[in-house]
Amino acid sequence: MKPVMVAAALAALAAVTHGAASAAQPAQERAQQHEAARDPNVPAGPSPAPQGIAEAGEAAAKRKRTDLNPKDQARVRQVTQATDDFSRAEPFELMQAGAATVRPLINADIFSLPSATLDFEGRQRFQMGNSLFRKDWVSSPSSTQASDGLGPLFNARSCQACHVKDGRGTVPGFDPVERSDAVALLMRLAVPALTEADLRRIHTGEIHFLPDPVYGVQLQNFAVAGLPAEGSLEIAYTPVEVKLNGGETATLMRPAYRIGNLGYGPMRADVQMSPRLAPPMIGLGLLEAVHEADILANATADHGDGVRGKPNWVIDARTGKPALGRFNWKASQPTVEQQSAVAFSNDMGLSTPMFPSHYGECTPAQAECFKMPHGAQPHLGEHEVPGPLMDLVADYATNLAVPQRRDVDDARVLAGKKLFYEANCVACHVPKYVTRRDAARPEHRFQLIWPYTDMLLHDMGDGLADDVSEGLASGRDWRTPPLWGIGLTKTVNPNATWLHDGRARTLLEAVLWHGGEAQPARDRVVNMTPEERADLVRFLESL
Ligand code: HEC
Ligand code: HEC
Repeated sequence: MKPVMVAAALAALAAVTHGAASAAQPAQERAQQHEAARDPNVPAGPSPAPQGIAEAGEAAAKRKRTDLNPKDQARVRQVTQATDDFSRAEPFELMQAGAATVRPLINADIFSLPSATLDFEGRQRFQMGNSLFRKDWVSSPSSTQASDGLGPLFNARSCQACHVKDGRGTVPGFDPVERSDAVALLMRLAVPALTEADLRRIHTGEIHFLPDPVYGVQLQNFAVAGLPAEGSLEIAYTPVEVKLNGGETATLMRPAYRIGNLGYGPMRADVQMSPRLAPPMIGLGLLEAVHEADILANATADHGDGVRGKPNWVIDARTGKPALGRFNWKASQPTVEQQSAVAFSNDMGLSTPMFPSHYGECTPAQAECFKMPHGAQPHLGEHEVPGPLMDLVADYATNLAVPQRRDVDDARVLAGKKLFYEANCVACHVPKYVTRRDAARPEHRFQLIWPYTDMLLHDMGDGLADDVSEGLASGRDWRTPPLWGIGLTKTVNPNATWLHDGRARTLLEAVLWHGGEAQPARDRVVNMTPEERADLVRFLESL
């Protein structure tokens, strides 16, 4: 479809379906959405659970798979067991996202293809969602009415400005030429919660942390004309040498952050900062379809090395109830849809049915922010991104395909895989799951997948810690990121780097930053021979 046709189709779809959707919406749900609008980063139900979110989550936890009969459960247990045969590739290992895996040409578009399991209609919706993900939104009022509403404060004009070609973003600083891409590194802002009332809001899951009273939950480094941006981010790196067995050394880059050009007066002196790089978008629907029981089983199992994964329980904006956090670097969001709606609100200042404020992340202390025009149009419904368009974005974001592995049978890759198991990387980077048979979307059902994550939080030590806690995740805790597709990172975005703030320029640097619960695994890598380390990296590159 030509872009102009897509836009027309989307406008028509929005006009036809939106009215019906909002009329059918129960009053209670609307009230919840209104409540949630007060702090888009942390959706909360109208009455937070009286007990803590951790207890509420544990109490509601689904610990058994009811989607499988006993025979299938036994089969699933067998195929997801850790292998001990590294002489050849395992059955189906090549297709790391099951039947949804794509086998395209290896080029920069490799993260942008639809799941192979999508049907014809699903593919059409994917294409429409793709155009919305790529679309540059503009500020209001504008002549292109279907694309306006950006801001007043924002970090980027499009989703893909940060999720570059559906892969990860670029941090500025290593290479001055790339400074203009600074958008993809978000700065979370928080202040310590000290009052009884604030601590209670965090305890119950109503908020994840206390935002800066003026600047809110994150720094927006852009604003519409006539309004100051909140500030700009400055990064300085200090090299840190690490000696490796075999006479090699690695140089890690330790970042330090400063916010300059403050647009709304000084920040609180005790403000805490947590930088976050845009992660890749592949395979997210399949991760959503992993059964909660399988994730929670890893939280209680003994993985050796003192590794103990912790779930982050958060509020699901659709139900107002506690749900397992799965997405983002601190597992702070339960669904792809919810994180996508948060992104529209916080990162781009666009309203959706889930977070209906047209003013995005304007705080009450930024009065002039609320005086700027917004982009909601009566004939398209009451939101800048009407429900049907939001649905297309969610469909898209859950269906970016994971590419097939390369070189699974290569002797060096297999040697690296063995080292990955022996170093106990698998304690957190859990290799395999079989997704739910009753997953919400048919294209994600009952697939053997190999994401290499437990989706749980781990204490990763001082080196990676910052001060900001998010829900049950402390400043030292990070969610194990999936590793599938990681070998194609630079094929998609040659300037991409790794870890939550993009400080690691190579996969080996990413491993050498591991500390805390991962310290024993990291030390095994330091003690490997240079050839073994190279094999380990070859394995990662084959994912
Ligand atoms: C300003 C940069 C930026 C923009 C624009 C942006 N994102 Fe993100 N995105 C991020 C960052 C940073 C994270 C991780 C946040 C965290 O860890 O707290 C993220 C995380 C996500 C995730 C979770 C991925 C995972 O693996 O856990 C999804 C889904 C997502 N974004 C979708 C979107 C969609 C859809 C849009 C457009 C509506 C969008 N994003 C726009 C930076 C951005
Ligand atoms: C205790 C749990 C744990 C263990 C053990 C562990 N990891 Fe990780 N890994 C993590 C977490 C959490 C992160 C994200 C840290 C961050 O971004 O600050 C991570 C990040 C990574 C990344 C970068 C991913 C990305 O998207 O940027 C790579 C590569 C990686 N690990 C490989 C390994 C290898 C190889 C081993 C074994 C030597 C290993 N990990 C052991 C938890 C673990």
